[in-house]
Amino acid sequence: MPTTAPSQKAFIPFVSVENMMRLVHHIGIEPMLEQLTDAIEADFRRWPSFDKVPRVPSHSLEGVIELMPTSDGEIYGFKYVNGHPQNTAQGLQTVTAFGLLAQVSNGYPVLLSEMTMLTALRTAATSALAARYLAPQNAKTMALIGNGAQAEFQALAMRAVIGIEHVKLFDIDPKATEKVRRNLEPMGLAITACSSAQAAIEGADIITTCTADKQYATILTDNMVGAGVHINAIGGDCPGKTELHPDILKRADTFVEYPPQTRIEGEIQQMEPNYPVTELWQVINGEAKGRKDASQITLFDSVGFAIEDFSALRYIRAKIKGTDFYQELDMIADPDDPRDLFGMLQRSK
Ligand SMILES: NC(=O)c1ccc[n+]([C@@H]2O[C@H](COP(=O)([O-])OP(=O)(O)OC[C@H]3O[C@@H](n4cnc5c(N)ncnc54)[C@H](O)[C@@H]3O)[C@@H](O)[C@H]2O)c1
Repeated sequence: MPTTAPSQKAFIPFVSVENMMRLVHHIGIEPMLEQLTDAIEADFRRWPSFDKVPRVPSHSLEGVIELMPTSDGEIYGFKYVNGHPQNTAQGLQTVTAFGLLAQVSNGYPVLLSEMTMLTALRTAATSALAARYLAPQNAKTMALIGNGAQAEFQALAMRAVIGIEHVKLFDIDPKATEKVRRNLEPMGLAITACSSAQAAIEGADIITTCTADKQYATILTDNMVGAGVHINAIGGDCPGKTELHPDILKRADTFVEYPPQTRIEGEIQQMEPNYPVTELWQVINGEAKGRKDASQITLFDSVGFAIEDFSALRYIRAKIKGTDFYQELDMIADPDDPRDLFGMLQRSK
């Protein structure tokens, strides 16, 4: 007798925001940031085995909506993500996201997950991964310019992976800086709130810029940046949206995720098409040099690439197995006879 109840094949594990937050607390945020850094590093080591395309954007006056697909031949993944810098004024997030993994062999999804939290975690883990290879030795102080949704994650990943102890903050909105201080001081990080970007970067070994503005902004000028620092620029990630004065790029050695995407979206969109860059995965694999000496300025021109989301989703999929950190979603129509989809609909009346 055909049944209208969903079969096991209909159900896909779904990680809600609530379950993602439970999982983060269960693992511990810093252990999770370290594990995510290692998961992303492992996938960067097998970079050539992935399908890679620049992400697919849909631009508007207010922001951008993007799809970020990749596959390693066994598992396919994509993330939906937006970037709307004016959203916070209306009580909305600048960046929201969700993502999916599917089996390449039959196209069936195997995971659907919230990715607003997970994007903040994976972006911070990717920053820490780049710093692992590029930051000056024994870095203890970081400047964090832009104190919005990503900020605390960035600081905690730099502590967990690099050993940062002191964070110097600047934001054009002092309320944002106060929020980061309130969140991070109880976690044992030394915090200094600064009244300018210049003051924030004084004495910093790592400078992270994570501002949101839909324009060519100049968060850092060339004269502000001293020898030997590592710049982790994550907020310039869209055509017409940058944070650094181009003169900084003339002095720095620049490291990127996927050049065809970064040339469109990153700080290097301001430079000639042949501006030299090094791919981070090659540094990790030992095929290219990372930091060469103590006076070099290194720049990680981060825009966020699909493989980082793929790694993060695979990490979540492994972590939720056998736990209650997910729900089953009735997402795939599964008729008893695969060709009788219509019959399934009629029987459900
Ligand atoms: N590279 C990546 O992988 C990646 C991932 C996620 C987000 N991002 C980008 O990171 C940026 C930050 O994201 P968010 O979610 O924290 O945004 P958010 O809107 O929550 O916070 C941005 C903060 O920047 C501040 N700001 C704006 N202009 C500034 C300036 N000139 N000087 C100092 N502060 C300034 C704002 O007041 C705000 O507090 C965005 O541009 C986003 O697109 C990049």
